[in-house]
Amino acid sequence: MKQALQTVLVTGGAGFIGSAVCRHLAATGRYRVVNLDKLTYAGNLASLHDLDGHPWYRFYRADICDIDAVRHILQAEDVDLVMHLAAESHVDRSIDGPMAFVTTNVLGTTSLLSAALDHWRSLSESRRKSFRFHHVSTDEVFGDLPFDSGVFTEQSPYKPSSPYSASKAASDHFVRAWHETYGLPVVLSNCSNNYGPYHFPEKLIPLVIANALDERPLPVYGKGANVRDWLFVEDHARALEAVMTRGEVGESYNIGGRAERTNLEVVEAICALLDARRPRAGGGSHLDLINFVTDRPGHDRRYAIDPTKSEAELGWRPQETFETGLARTVDWYLENGWWWRPLREQRFDGSRLGLVGAR
Ligand code: NAD
Ligand code: TYD
Repeated sequence: MKQALQTVLVTGGAGFIGSAVCRHLAATGRYRVVNLDKLTYAGNLASLHDLDGHPWYRFYRADICDIDAVRHILQAEDVDLVMHLAAESHVDRSIDGPMAFVTTNVLGTTSLLSAALDHWRSLSESRRKSFRFHHVSTDEVFGDLPFDSGVFTEQSPYKPSSPYSASKAASDHFVRAWHETYGLPVVLSNCSNNYGPYHFPEKLIPLVIANALDERPLPVYGKGANVRDWLFVEDHARALEAVMTRGEVGESYNIGGRAERTNLEVVEAICALLDARRPRAGGGSHLDLINFVTDRPGHDRRYAIDPTKSEAELGWRPQETFETGLARTVDWYLENGWWWRPLREQRFDGSRLGLVGAR
């Protein structure tokens, strides 16, 4: 029986942010959560162990490119809201193999939009009004900023640099096109870099924590001067619920934590936390493991989000500062080797993805 709960289809719910979203939405008691995920290398059901046996949570293994499977799930689960996170998400992988990004992020999103449109058209008028297709995107679609000025607003022009950000930019355009052309009620959000528990250990923060714990080099691209704007993943999950439920149809919302740091500052902060919590057996600081390596091609200099619109219109604010969120993250990796150690044993492909970090 559905009671008053709304059914949300979360795509990519076995990934880093998607699993935080599933945990958050289920914990509110306001939703039935249906997770559709292909389980690529980045998808991991172990990230959802908290929801094992939860009465309002279901998982389907499916590919968003498989329109018949998606149509079936939308209908069988009588979906009220779609939150679309499924994507190929790692810039370095997109440099080494761009086609998977085009397939999932562009073709997969348009396929999902088509299935969602058919489903939306089949609903009663009142349910059509409250239905939302929420596309979860990234600030990387705006390209990069100079080191010393500027922020991304919702009006910033799209200027993506990497195959990843180009594929996300394309998907944003298709989502808007489905709204303008067919009337599908969409909302979009563009968020800055996330960090926190269950982050796959090939991205900067979990890679550095895991390498430091294993006494391996900490790879810093170039001089470590590139700037990212960091947001704790649980703050993002709360923002996404706000956008999905309170965002205006056809609008996009920038989400960020006003926490710009250079990559070197991030790595140094992790080393300081680990020095205090898990001193190295042989003495010395984890800082001694820092290894400056060849820069990423087309490496965006700086990202910085202006979240004023989300704060003013949605009443959303992050609960963690970068310092509190990073400390929680380091503690989580210290306590949850059961989750990340098996992932490190898989061999990653691609030169920028080696586990030992140095290239
Ligand atoms: P992730 O790589 O950790 O997870 C992606 C999930 O999508 C995985 O579970 C994977 O199995 C699934 N998936 C991939 N291809 C699929 C397909 N064809 N069909 C169904 N499922 C598929 O990514 P993430 O970091 O959790 O990012 C989630 C979303 O948020 C992405 O759309 C990303 O662009 C966006 N985003 C990420 C960040 C960030 O810092 N990680 C910031 C802003 C926006
Ligand atoms: P990443 O976590 O890959 O996120 P994104 O590329 O989407 O911002 O990288 C964050 C920053 O850290 C980016 O500027 C690249 C840099 N970086 C390193 O310096 N070393 C690394 O090993 C990785 C993976 C990233």
